[in-house]
Amino acid sequence: MLLSKVDENIEKFITDLNDDKVSELYKKISSGKKLRAKLILKIAAKEASRAVVLASIVEMIHAASLLHDDVIDDADTRRGQKSINAIYGDKTAIMFGDILYSKAFYELCNFPKDISQSISEAVSKLSVGELLDVELSKEFNSDKEKYFDMIYKKTASLIEAASYSAAFLAGAQSDKFALYGKNLGLAFQIIDDILDIVSDDKTLGKPSMNDYKEGKTTLPYIYLYEKLDSDEKNRLLSLFKKELNDNDKKWIKQKMQATGALKECFTLVERLGNEALNSIKEYKNQDLEKIIKDMIDREY
Ligand code: FPP
Ligand code: MG
Repeated sequence: MLLSKVDENIEKFITDLNDDKVSELYKKISSGKKLRAKLILKIAAKEASRAVVLASIVEMIHAASLLHDDVIDDADTRRGQKSINAIYGDKTAIMFGDILYSKAFYELCNFPKDISQSISEAVSKLSVGELLDVELSKEFNSDKEKYFDMIYKKTASLIEAASYSAAFLAGAQSDKFALYGKNLGLAFQIIDDILDIVSDDKTLGKPSMNDYKEGKTTLPYIYLYEKLDSDEKNRLLSLFKKELNDNDKKWIKQKMQATGALKECFTLVERLGNEALNSIKEYKNQDLEKIIKDMIDREY
């Protein structure tokens, strides 16, 4: 499987850095789903060896962004394991992120300008997206446009650039694949926001119902707020950024179902998924279609 080649390639990049501490830190991060690598390998299948290198670069950038994100969010766990900041402290996590990120950029220089520009522009967007997320988390946000702009930048932009770049490598129509990646990325983040509400801690690999406590008014909460009466709106607002007890959690979950707020999120995920499928339908790439279908059809 080529995905294991991506792991081998990242390990080679880490070895190039020739530093025992960096190698020790790398061993402590668990590998994750590698959605971005999978996309690149599937879109640029006919350019397999260059696709493996590009996938490694994008996964290293993604890993770097999560190292920084866990410092920003003060998160103790990542992918079901202790986060680097929890084990070694914030300073080490930030510097390790910078090391992964700068090595990835060094390797990106070997790719055509279209690709290096697309990926590096996405990293600017994801950093701006994270900044927007921090700003939006200060107060309750009922503005959907702000939410969509933030998740586009924070999550979808790198998936969009990964798809664009892989298509460019393969000589396919990169704009169509970029649209596929963008819609997939948006849907993926909305699913992540839904899972925070409907999953348990064990399935998530991190504490559930944590977003609202962290000040994140994710899409299910924005839709819920629109649908509640004024007393209920006040109750929801009073819980913002608070440690939720079991009763509060039960109330939110029940209202999410009863008002159709969650249903509205699923409908949007489905629409985004269909738009993703439509943009590349002429390619009849079953692997890429399956990624979307599995995402839409999953049980919550
Ligand atoms: C996860 O968000 C965070 C991201 C997808 C992007 C974070 C981006 C940066 C920190 C910019 C810095 C970039 C680099 C390359 C150094 P989340 O907190 O909503 O998701 P989570 O539940 O997985 O933590
Ligand atoms: Mg986070």
